[in-house]
Amino acid sequence: MKVLIVGASGTIGRAVAAELGQRHEIVAAGRSSGDVRIDITDRASIAAAFKKVGRIDAVVSTAGHVKFAPFADMNPEDYEIGNRDKLMGQVNLVLIGRGSVADGGSFTLTTGVLDSDPIRGGSSASLVNGAVNAFVMAAAIELPRGLRINAVSPGLITEAAAAFGSYFRGFETVPAARAALAYSRSVEGAQTGRVYRVV
Ligand SMILES: NC(=O)c1ccc[n+]([C@@H]2O[C@H](COP(=O)([O-])OP(=O)(O)OC[C@H]3O[C@@H](n4cnc5c(N)ncnc54)[C@H](OP(=O)(O)O)[C@@H]3O)[C@@H](O)[C@H]2O)c1
Repeated sequence: MKVLIVGASGTIGRAVAAELGQRHEIVAAGRSSGDVRIDITDRASIAAAFKKVGRIDAVVSTAGHVKFAPFADMNPEDYEIGNRDKLMGQVNLVLIGRGSVADGGSFTLTTGVLDSDPIRGGSSASLVNGAVNAFVMAAAIELPRGLRINAVSPGLITEAAAAFGSYFRGFETVPAARAALAYSRSVEGAQTGRVYRVV
């Protein structure tokens, strides 16, 4: 398969590329690195990237940013950051990319443990992750041509614990390589409309 990984240079993306790269051709994408440049917050950039990549068998997104801040300090503009980036960025990848994915191909989006296990400062992440999970569930029943779509919802990644661990006291961490197996299930398996929780 030819697999486009958006966010391939990131903590999770690198592990997904290592896992899937053993068996498939990887096209790495990101804003500032990879084979293809793409900014998921910019619809024209998404369209240009798919035009450059051509026919593809699977699209994996391991990109998406949200603002973390105490709820008392969050204003509508703060939520807009995550809505525009991690939520609509990933939704637009599907909307704009679906014509480029071969029959029976797949999309795999990334959410996270805050979809169901909130922490202080994570209200935008919870909002966005829940919305992406719900989008995947709904899009799965209407995608044509045998196209599939799933989400992977990892816990705090072990390799990111030094940076984010203070937000996640008491949470077990997940090695990126273990989270990557869920992306493999989504890309190489047959299921659709699923949220793979790796905690
Ligand atoms: N790390 C964790 O513990 C963890 C746990 C659960 C869920 N998640 C979620 O998993 C996703 C990835 O996390 P991560 O820790 O792997 O992130 P990361 O290390 O910061 O990597 C992000 C990747 O996405 C790319 N990227 C960032 N913004 C982009 C944009 N607008 N358009 C296209 N590519 C973009 C980056 O490359 P460029 O800078 O070159 O664009 C990079 O390759 C995030 O949505 C995060 O919320 C992370």
